[in-house]
Amino acid sequence: MISRFSIPTQILLGPGAVREIPDLVRSLGRRRPLIVTDAGVVRAGLVERVTGPFRDAGLSWAVFDGVHPNPVEEDVAAGLMAYRDGGCDLVLALGGGSPLDAGKGIRLKVTHPLPLEDYEAGRGGADRIGPDVPPMIAVPTTAGTGSEVGRSAVFTFRTLGRKSLIFSPHLMPSFAVADPELTVGLPPYLTAATGMDALTHNLESYLSTSYHPICDAIARGGIRLVAQHLRRAVRCGADLDARQGMLMAAMMGATAFQKDLGAAHSLAHPLSTVAGVHHGLANAVVLPHVLAFNAHAAAAKLRDVAEDLGVEVAGLSDAAAARKAVDAVRALNREIGIPERLSQVGVTGEMIPELSRKAMEDGCHRTNPRPCTKEDMADLYRKAL
Ligand SMILES: [Fe+2]
Repeated sequence: MISRFSIPTQILLGPGAVREIPDLVRSLGRRRPLIVTDAGVVRAGLVERVTGPFRDAGLSWAVFDGVHPNPVEEDVAAGLMAYRDGGCDLVLALGGGSPLDAGKGIRLKVTHPLPLEDYEAGRGGADRIGPDVPPMIAVPTTAGTGSEVGRSAVFTFRTLGRKSLIFSPHLMPSFAVADPELTVGLPPYLTAATGMDALTHNLESYLSTSYHPICDAIARGGIRLVAQHLRRAVRCGADLDARQGMLMAAMMGATAFQKDLGAAHSLAHPLSTVAGVHHGLANAVVLPHVLAFNAHAAAAKLRDVAEDLGVEVAGLSDAAAARKAVDAVRALNREIGIPERLSQVGVTGEMIPELSRKAMEDGCHRTNPRPCTKEDMADLYRKAL
């Protein structure tokens, strides 16, 4: 079997990295970015933080701040109009996963005339996406999705009535600029939820059944970084070292998950669309249950996970070490203030049939180490309820 590996993103990481952006813009041969962001990022004053050095560098810019929390196709249409009206020549996406994904959609539509839904991955859209897109600089303000190093974007298509993925290597940002100073204002509950999304990416990609030893090594490194930094980032938001560790863990998670994910993400996706639960929070609550479900099928790998999470497993059987990994994730959730039960975040028993049907339709569980049936999904929801 022939495998194909690709880890090409250029990343600038460290306090003050945003001050390098004017040089990056120039190195791309461009002069006027469209800043794609959302109202929360504007309120937090982060647009000024990023554009501060622009004036001295002789750069002008335009701002589109209308991205919704779960971007819809209209966000892309409005952003495209702002790009054209503003005479822009590259996209600078600033925010959590939503502005970053919207930025990818906007750069795509600058040169690709079909309706956005025609580029949907599930319908062969990747083949319709060529390399002729304007450059993009991705600047994350959360440490979770890692979309800044990813080749995909998720949109809610009203026409299709569901969330869907657009994917192409050509959508990989030209540069990711990960500056921990931009994440210090993120409140503890969002730091915890987005951080658990990063952990889930690393963990599920490590456990997934696909073959990708490079991603396995990255994923284990990402798990260790989360174990080292997440508690501190939640407890002390101004700790730049912890913030930087989590930014790196998020980028490693997104790099690793080109190896694929698992059942936690299949359970989490409908929790957002049906019950409005934050994506990272949904993953965090279901993750210990999914790991317990996988414990037998992936005992040796869960032993590695336990070690990476800092648990002493010497002398234990793989099965016992796997149980320790589940306990360690539960304990981490508790320490960073993640609610234990889905019922605490608005999910009800009546939702479970719809949730489990949608979880089965979601592709992520296909690489879960233990195959899942619809009844397994319902059972996992009930356990987490
Ligand atoms: Fe995720």
